[in-house]
Amino acid sequence: MELIVVKDYEEMSKKAAAIMSSQVLLKKDSVLGLATGDTPLGMYKELINKYKKNEIDFSKVKTFNLDEYYGVDRNNSQSYYFYMMNNFFKYINIDMSNINIPDGTAQNVEKECINYDRKIKEADGMDLQILGIGVNGHIGFNEPNVSFEAQTHLVSLDDKTIKSNARFFNSIDEVPVKAISMGIKTILQSKKIILLASGESKAKAIYNTVKGKISPETPASILQLHQDVTIILDEKAANLISF
Ligand code: F6R
Repeated sequence: MELIVVKDYEEMSKKAAAIMSSQVLLKKDSVLGLATGDTPLGMYKELINKYKKNEIDFSKVKTFNLDEYYGVDRNNSQSYYFYMMNNFFKYINIDMSNINIPDGTAQNVEKECINYDRKIKEADGMDLQILGIGVNGHIGFNEPNVSFEAQTHLVSLDDKTIKSNARFFNSIDEVPVKAISMGIKTILQSKKIILLASGESKAKAIYNTVKGKISPETPASILQLHQDVTIILDEKAANLISF
């Protein structure tokens, strides 16, 4: 694991965008794994700026998002599809047929999950996967005590995740309790992984990820076994790790 500690959220976002850009520059048809939530928003903004300045071309890029709320239609403003469109895709020259996000309203969820993994496999896996981390150490929506063997599957969200995600909704009762998420096994097949973390609320999860024992109690701890993981974190998220 390589750790890059930067001053603040802005620097974290710039660094992540720089790594993404060089990935796409070196391989035009890169397969990118993408995350939602607050953490990558700054990175998406930076990438949009780079696109506007003609510094990056997404026309051949393919993307796979980590997760989508179960039972939430893509046109719903709370869906991760909506988030991706409005925070990133509609501002860049990506080919919409190259975008992949699990369908939260699929009639046959099992089939949707199998198909999602098949599509990832057909694309030869992610060249670069961006991850955020939950306060409980989740990656994607792989909550504590998940099986490391799982591929894309339907998950029940942890109470801590529901509480944390309530900030995006009018009330906690509106937060979906299930999601379709890439599994740990799917994520680990990525060639390169970048995990982003900002703020004090992530410090404990980062400590457990980097210094803790590898255990399903902290799903992100499995990243210790991946051959190419870079964690970009700001000083607040790094404040429990001493170097
Ligand atoms: C989002 C995802 C989650 C988030 C995590 C952190 O697609 O898979 O694992 O990355 O919950 O969320 P934020 O960035 O909002 O703190």
